[in-house]
Amino acid sequence: MEHSIALVTGTTSGLGYEAARTLAAEGWREIIVTGRSLARVQETAAQLAAETKKQVFTPLELDLDSPSSVQSALARLVKQGNPIDFLLLNAGMVPGKERVLTAAGIEAAQAPLIGHHQLTVGLLRAKLLSPNARIVIAGAEPARGGVPMFSYTDVPAFAAKHFGGDRTAAIEALIHNRPNVKYVPNTTYADAKLIIAWWVAALARRLPSGMAVYAVSPGAATATKASRRAGLAVKYLFIPVANLIPGMNQTPETAARRYLQASEFGTDVSGEFFASARGKFSGPIEVQRQPHLHDRASQEAAWQAVVKVSGADLSYRGSLTAVSGGSGRG
Ligand SMILES: NC(=O)c1ccc[n+]([C@@H]2O[C@H](COP(=O)([O-])OP(=O)(O)OC[C@H]3O[C@@H](n4cnc5c(N)ncnc54)[C@H](OP(=O)(O)O)[C@@H]3O)[C@@H](O)[C@H]2O)c1
Repeated sequence: MEHSIALVTGTTSGLGYEAARTLAAEGWREIIVTGRSLARVQETAAQLAAETKKQVFTPLELDLDSPSSVQSALARLVKQGNPIDFLLLNAGMVPGKERVLTAAGIEAAQAPLIGHHQLTVGLLRAKLLSPNARIVIAGAEPARGGVPMFSYTDVPAFAAKHFGGDRTAAIEALIHNRPNVKYVPNTTYADAKLIIAWWVAALARRLPSGMAVYAVSPGAATATKASRRAGLAVKYLFIPVANLIPGMNQTPETAARRYLQASEFGTDVSGEFFASARGKFSGPIEVQRQPHLHDRASQEAAWQAVVKVSGADLSYRGSLTAVSGGSGRG
């Protein structure tokens, strides 16, 4: 891909900051960096410019919890009018002990996907993604299962028990953390990342040919602020243990490089979820093959649930070439 314009969300700390820094080092012409408040992201952009000695950072206010903030950000991008080549949807969080809902009633760890969806749909509708654009969204290993203390909800069973088998309604409930959902922070995080993996597969089927989208787990990078709200067991047990086991942790720079690596992948693997090898949280990334990730009914239910909660849909299917490639398996 020609190194031109990238947009990275959640750059005020951690992997988003590292990704923006690395993109500059690799010669990207403009890197739009986002943060919840303009003042903070302006500070971030200035810090990045000082560190890299490159004047390529454009600060943009974007609070993914707020539809009006997403709309304002979109309006600014439309005014600027330059198509984005690499859309890196990195912002996310591990939720804390107490359940937090946004003003729109969305659970806080689920909210970034809703804002990212509104942003992505807005950019597609405004034709502000370049024809070969790459979209990468932050996933995480708990979405595939087998991560101690982080189990995901069995959506088909949950839907059968409480929603007459309606998976869209069940996923909507997970996004709102109600009804019939008991708040368990680590499960909420795993569910948020599972819904992201499904959303990616469904989006891949709707993108114009030439574009591609992937969910990418950066892997464990415990030096970021990701677990600032996490419970004591995660902070004082899970992370210290992971830090002690060789190969279970990596630097933020190494983790952020996974996103950049994926930005070079082809359309043949659009819709896939890339993460560490089974049982690992670092090292090379590979396509995740667990059957639940490739369940087409769940992928489409996740898409429909996100459309309903966000109020944003791609209504251009007739006017742009929709492709059925990507992770349509399942
Ligand atoms: N670090 C890891 O071990 C690890 C492992 C797997 C996956 N991940 C994923 O990697 C991504 C980056 O995490 P990180 O480790 O870099 O954590 P971090 O240091 O906490 O950075 C997260 C960034 O996202 C922003 N953000 C979160 N929610 C937002 C919202 N609703 N609206 C706007 N900005 C929001 C944060 O801004 P504020 O400070 O304003 O909240 C911050 O800039 C996340 O999606 C995380 O789930 C991380």
